Amino acid sequence: MLLSGKTALVTGASRGIGEAIARAFHREGARVAICSRKQESLDSVATSIGPGVLPIAAHIGRADDLARLIERVTSELGPVDVLVNNAATNVAQGPCLSLDESAFDKMVEVNLKSTFRLIQALAPAMCARGSGSIVNIASVAGIKPQFESLLYSMTKAALIMMTKSYALELGPSGVRVNAIAPGLIQTRLSEFFWKDEERRQAVFGGQPIRHLGQPEEIAEIATLLASDRASYITGEVIVADGGFLLA
Ligand SMILES: NC(=O)c1ccc[n+]([C@@H]2O[C@H](COP(=O)([O-])OP(=O)(O)OC[C@H]3O[C@@H](n4cnc5c(N)ncnc54)[C@H](OP(=O)(O)O)[C@@H]3O)[C@@H](O)[C@H]2O)c1
Repeated sequence: MLLSGKTALVTGASRGIGEAIARAFHREGARVAICSRKQESLDSVATSIGPGVLPIAAHIGRADDLARLIERVTSELGPVDVLVNNAATNVAQGPCLSLDESAFDKMVEVNLKSTFRLIQALAPAMCARGSGSIVNIASVAGIKPQFESLLYSMTKAALIMMTKSYALELGPSGVRVNAIAPGLIQTRLSEFFWKDEERRQAVFGGQPIRHLGQPEEIAEIATLLASDRASYITGEVIVADGGFLLA
C-alpha cells in the first residue's frame, strides 16, 4: 500500500488517464477525490472503483468551481497530500495562423491556469505540514511540437516549466513537484491519432515500443511519483512514450 493514509485529488478522472490514476491510488490505499465536468460519469466511475472515492463535478477552467472543489475535498477527506493535475483539453487544433485569441485564452485557462490555481490553493498547507506530492500530466507535445497544435504544445511546455519552478521553491518545505509526459495513449482525447489505422502508423513511425500506450502505464508512474518511494525525485519530467521521441 504505497499511498496508505494519504488524501489525493485527481482532476479529469471520469475516464482515460485520470480514471486509471484514481484506480491505482485507491488500490494503494489513498482516499481519492475525482473531478470532471459531469457528475453522472464521476458517480459511476467512483462506484466502480469502490468505497472512499469522492466524486465532485467541477470545470477546472472556472475559479469558483475550483474553490468549491477544494472546499469539499478538504472538508470531506482532509488536507490534500497528493494533487494530480491531469484534466486538459485539445479543442483548439488547426493551422497556427487560423487560431484566434479566444482559443488562446481558453487553452491557457483550462490547461495551465487551472494547475496554477490548484497549486496556489493547496500547496501552502502541504508546505505547512512539510510534505506533499504534485504530479502534472504534460505531454511529449510539450517537448516536441505537435503539428497544427500550437496551443496544446505551448500549454504543455509551460506546464513543464511550471513544474520545475514550483519544485525549486517548494522542495525545501518537503513538497515534490513532478511531471509525466505521455506519448500516444489510447483514450478519447487522442482518438484522432489512433482510430484510423493509416494515421496511427504515421504517428507511430519508428517508435521502438510497438503497442499503443494504455492509461494504466501512466497511472503506475503517477503512483510512484505520488508515493514516498520517489522521495528524492523532484522537478523531473518522466517521459512515457514507448520511445516516440527517439524515432
Ligand atoms: N491520450 C494521450 O495520448 C495523451 C498524450 C499526452 C498527454 N495526455 C494528457 O493526459 C491528460 C488526460 O488525457 P486523457 O487522454 O486521459 O483524456 P480523456 O480521456 O479525454 O479524459 C479527460 C478527462 O478530463 C476531463 N475534463 C476535460 N475537460 C475538463 C474541464 N474543463 N474541467 C474538468 N474536467 C475536464 C474529462 O471529463 P469531462 O469531459 O466529463 O469533463 C475526462 O475525465 C491530459 O492532460 C492530456 O493532455 C494525453
